[in-house]
Amino acid sequence: MQRGDRLIPRARALVGASVATTLAACTGGPEFPQTTFHPVTDYGEALNRVFANTFWWTMLILTLVCVLVLVTILRFRERPDTPHPKQIHGNTKLELMWTIAPALIVVLMGIPTVQTIFATQRRPAEDALTIEVIGHQWWWEFRYPELNVITANQFYVPVGREVHLRMHSADVIHSFWIPRLGGKRDVNPLPRTAEGERQRYNHILFTATEPGLYSGQCAEFCGDSHGIMAVTAVAVEPAEFDAWVASMQVTPPAPPAAADTAAGQAPAQAQTARPLAPDTVGPPLIGSPQQLQQALAGMQPSGDGGTARLVLEGQRLFTSRACIACHAVAGTTAQGRVGPDLTRFGARPTVGAGALPNTQENVERWIRNPQAVKAGAKMPGARVGGGGMPPTNLTDSEVRAIAAYLLSLR
Ligand code: CUA
Repeated sequence: MQRGDRLIPRARALVGASVATTLAACTGGPEFPQTTFHPVTDYGEALNRVFANTFWWTMLILTLVCVLVLVTILRFRERPDTPHPKQIHGNTKLELMWTIAPALIVVLMGIPTVQTIFATQRRPAEDALTIEVIGHQWWWEFRYPELNVITANQFYVPVGREVHLRMHSADVIHSFWIPRLGGKRDVNPLPRTAEGERQRYNHILFTATEPGLYSGQCAEFCGDSHGIMAVTAVAVEPAEFDAWVASMQVTPPAPPAAADTAAGQAPAQAQTARPLAPDTVGPPLIGSPQQLQQALAGMQPSGDGGTARLVLEGQRLFTSRACIACHAVAGTTAQGRVGPDLTRFGARPTVGAGALPNTQENVERWIRNPQAVKAGAKMPGARVGGGGMPPTNLTDSEVRAIAAYLLSLR
């Protein structure tokens, strides 16, 4: 048996193994929610077309080069009793070919690439839905300026309508990336200059084509907890989107009667409540039989009986303690803007922007000691401060009630 005859089965085995491992990367089921191969927006599709075009050209070149190298190796290898092959140097025709062909391929890759850059950087449509995306260490804020809605870490978009993400950062550079919506984009701080604030927004335009829940994460190293800066987009049919908007615009409660407050004035936080669209009347956040039913269904039974009572106690604590200095819940007097908006917090999949699944136990853990869950988190814990703030000094039963209240906000 000659050496060359043994080489061929080995080469076959090697090629087989390479193909098998390569194909293993091509699955894209629910176990890989952050795949780039199954885009659900026009933007993602456009990027994939450019990617596919470049990919197949390079595959063609790779195949051609590999075949030529293999043929040369096999055909001109040294064997006993064979004369040296004819030695040649220089071939004008060949050299012209391998200069012109690659130049042509570069043009064929370049034209669709430039076209896609201009298409995806176009001006937003007149009726596009603008969402302001603000990166924070380490969570995402979403503001819908036309709809008077603010949310955090999970945002909704309507299917079939152009969405315009206008993005910037409140601190360092982050990068917004939900792979199934399309490419990632840096989120930069707005630098202050002598003339004031320069408008250094980055933009993404897309129209979602398929309802679903699409997850992503920060894609630019941004400090201690960069790895815990997850984001979810929920694409829904327009009617469902309108319902979500209405549920996020809960009318704030009437200011307390003069007799209720010491100085005969409404509390400061009620005065700073953000204005709400005049014609939207959402369901009350808590207190309706339906809300309490949901609260009961979504929580583990509490030791002291009566989850509803726990929820109401939680609301009382939340709106009277340190929480409202930083957090807002639409429809309540909590209107802090330093931390994430917690309106409908219970409907979010995670607590701490992907730090933990959103369960009673985990929310308690978070409120007790956020830094133990997420290094560098600015929120103060019950016993340990954070972000230069003193500890909240909440007791374990108070923490439990606040967690129950937050989870009831669905
Ligand atoms: Cu934000 Cu990494």
